Amino acid sequence: MITGLNHLHSSFRYLVLLFIVLAVVDAIMGLSSGKSYKKSSKLFALFGLITSHIQLVVGLALYFMGAKGMNVIMNVEGFMKSSELRFYAIEHITMMIIAIVLVTIGYSKAKRIESSKKKYRTILIFYGIALVLIFAMIPWPFLRPFGSWM
Ligand code: HEM
Ligand code: HEM
Repeated sequence: MITGLNHLHSSFRYLVLLFIVLAVVDAIMGLSSGKSYKKSSKLFALFGLITSHIQLVVGLALYFMGAKGMNVIMNVEGFMKSSELRFYAIEHITMMIIAIVLVTIGYSKAKRIESSKKKYRTILIFYGIALVLIFAMIPWPFLRPFGSWM
């Protein structure tokens, strides 16, 4: 079960990244062309929101049921001294939750705005910052020695 959730969480990263990148690129193009907010713009933002919320739910399950989250905090003395143990127990969850909160706030704010320009700008700012945080906190093998490609 945990192994399955781990594979799901690990491969799902590409979908989360895909939709957030699409929403950000679309917002940049929308702002520079001055065109009105399109149906596809809303869909990119909505899919970015949904995939990141699903990633959150699976992440929480891994955190509380798997070996590398709560288990480390409760059972491993001095875990803060190990960059790998600290990464999953503290850093990954904290920064990813902040990023997902930003996506959620950005989506909600944009939904309530009338002007296309302001909608694009809101998505660009909130999804843009979230994208940087998410990219930085994925355990990519080239950033952190303990991540895997899948
Ligand atoms: C820990 C689990 C979750 C939390 C804490 C959470 C929290 C939230 C919050 C705070 C909002 C913003 C409401 C607003 O102001 O518009 C929201 C919206 C939304 N969430 Fe989640 N969510 C979770 C899981 C999920 C899951 C699993 C899905 C989909 C499978 C999902 C799909 C959505 C959608 C579609 C919206 C936007 C609705 C709209 O305004 O159009 N969420 N969620
Ligand atoms: C967009 C958000 C997120 C992305 C893209 C993401 C991505 C990843 C990736 C790529 C891994 C590494 C898997 C591996 O190399 O084996 C991982 C592991 C993990 N993530 Fe996330 N994550 C996100 C959010 C979260 C959140 C919000 C939580 C907690 C609530 C969480 C909890 C975990 C845990 C506990 C692990 C370690 C799993 C294990 O090996 O037992 N993640 N995540």
